[in-house]
Amino acid sequence: MKVLIINGSPRGERSNTLQMTKAFIDGMKKAAEVETETVTIKDLNIESCRGCFSCWSRTPGRCVINDDVREITLRIFASDVVIYSFPLFYYSVPSKLKALIERQLPTVAPFMKGQKNYLVNGGHPPRFDLKYKTVLISSCGFYPTEKSYDAIRAQFDMICGDGNYTELFLGEGELLAKQIARRRCSARLQVIEQAGEEYAKTGVISAETQALISSNLYPPDMYAAMADEGWGVDIEAFREADKATVREVLKLGKKIDTIY
Ligand SMILES: Cc1cc2nc3c(=O)[nH]c(=O)nc-3n(C[C@H](O)[C@H](O)[C@H](O)COP(=O)(O)O)c2cc1C
Repeated sequence: MKVLIINGSPRGERSNTLQMTKAFIDGMKKAAEVETETVTIKDLNIESCRGCFSCWSRTPGRCVINDDVREITLRIFASDVVIYSFPLFYYSVPSKLKALIERQLPTVAPFMKGQKNYLVNGGHPPRFDLKYKTVLISSCGFYPTEKSYDAIRAQFDMICGDGNYTELFLGEGELLAKQIARRRCSARLQVIEQAGEEYAKTGVISAETQALISSNLYPPDMYAAMADEGWGVDIEAFREADKATVREVLKLGKKIDTIY
């Protein structure tokens, strides 16, 4: 089975989320022959879509921009499973990964006709007959992954078809990089490994394993206190400094760039 990992974290190899992805792959390898390839998008040249629609008219199925997206798209085509591994940024995917997703426009047909429910939702059917499955692996800073990932779910429901992808979301993600939480995090990574094994065997992750993955690592009040303290900034002094900044900004004639 060919698995393509698209590492969308600007941290590259130091990504918290990549630890989850590696554990998932380790689990998959327990149950299947798995060949992996990783694309680290922070190191690649990925231009933004120009919105020219050439890929739908003048150069059907091909983007006019000659950058690394061509190679990545070919690798997606050759995969059985594509894993998007990314941190949650402002309740969405990081911008460079968003650019890569937008650059997939050449892979769908220009017409709406042929897309399921197009008279209700719009959308475009795939241009090519591709069989790869999509897995989303992500970590975020807050604990309630339920609400935090609503926008991601809505986006991929439209892209892949309702629920036609596998998700693996973890809150309190910064703990993956902290020595203090090592024991709890290794236990959680083991559960993620179990998820990988289940996925390779059955194509899905069981509800029990999903529930364990998305459960809190620490009680919310404890985690919030740890996270707030973790910045090494005194919260009261911070608030005072903030108020002073706002006072300065509000003073007539004071330019913001003289303050920041
Ligand atoms: C610009 C920025 C935006 C973020 N937005 C969110 C957010 O909306 N919700 C959240 O829970 N965490 C947010 N985070 C925290 C990251 O999702 C979290 O630190 C994640 O574990 C980083 O993963 P990585 O090491 O794989 O990049 C944000 C971090 C940054 C730098």
